[in-house]
Amino acid sequence: MDVEAFRALAPLCWRAPSAHNTQPWRLRYESRAVRVGWDPADALPAADPTGRDLRLSLGAFVETCLVVAADAGLAVRFDADHCAEGHRIGWLRGAGRRYDTPFGAAGVRDRRTHRGRYLTGPEPEVVADLDALARTVGARFRAVPDAGPLPGLIRAADQQLYADSAIAGELRSWLRLTPRHPRYHADGLTDRALALSRAEAAGLRAALAGYPLLRRVGLPRILAAAGGNPLALGGDVLVLVGPPDLDDQAQVTIGRALLRIWLTVQAAGLAAHPLSQLLDAPVPRAALAAQFGVAPQRLLHVVRVGRPATAAAPSARRRDQP
Ligand SMILES: Cc1cc2nc3c(=O)[nH]c(=O)nc-3n(C[C@H](O)[C@H](O)[C@H](O)COP(=O)(O)O)c2cc1C
Repeated sequence: MDVEAFRALAPLCWRAPSAHNTQPWRLRYESRAVRVGWDPADALPAADPTGRDLRLSLGAFVETCLVVAADAGLAVRFDADHCAEGHRIGWLRGAGRRYDTPFGAAGVRDRRTHRGRYLTGPEPEVVADLDALARTVGARFRAVPDAGPLPGLIRAADQQLYADSAIAGELRSWLRLTPRHPRYHADGLTDRALALSRAEAAGLRAALAGYPLLRRVGLPRILAAAGGNPLALGGDVLVLVGPPDLDDQAQVTIGRALLRIWLTVQAAGLAAHPLSQLLDAPVPRAALAAQFGVAPQRLLHVVRVGRPATAAAPSARRRDQP
């Protein structure tokens, strides 16, 4: 493998999506291969205690590397080699031919999470294409059978998560609600990417600053209500349902498929907005799983998909990549 040629592409690979935009992946360049691992300092132990979103993000990163390398004419493959203790998921190595993908660097560059208003949901044919992609890794990607209870489930999930001081503290540490934040252009969730007005960002900043004290006087409820109902912004909610008995390495593989799903969404002129709180809070997750008739741990990702009314702001990335 031409390790140096790949190294030059790394900044574009960093455009991969990750929960809270922590960019947990780490590359170690060796003479003939690139080790792909993660830094536990960029995991989310409170919000993501099982590491599900970490592994999906790492899978999305690997797929992004393969797409970017193929677009640049480099023949690169990924060899999975999961080691939880070593914080490693595998190796990028030279291959006999370029990775076969319909996606390219432009899609990687332009993809973004869109948390604003959608004009319509996805057409049934697009949903069928997305489901076909999920099936290639033994998963399904399906619309929620009954969307009626979703706003209540989201409110309950937000409320539960904001009531957990470890989760709220972790979120606060990744929020960049003012351009004066020293890491505003590097990582985390900016006011712009979250589509917050200046007043909303200032309100959220003030509320979270008073969090430990205000928690007792009902702040979680206020914050959950302030989060609003994302479903009122349009689109349809789709769920990635995994096969039973998924191990860590298989979750990374599903993360790769998730990136292909997001790039397909984008290629169809649509956008995606994950709603992971529905999976992070046990009661809403169980309610959703019951709708699909599966065990709660089989729900891997929940996302609002639709045709965006406006363009979304780009998210930050580290330039001084570790
Ligand atoms: C596994 C995973 C879970 C995510 N969950 C959420 C979520 O619950 N809410 C949300 O607004 N964004 C969520 N995101 C989107 C990330 O915040 C987003 O990818 C990151 O901020 C970088 O922004 P970008 O996707 O626009 O490049 C998630 C992303 C991944 C990969």
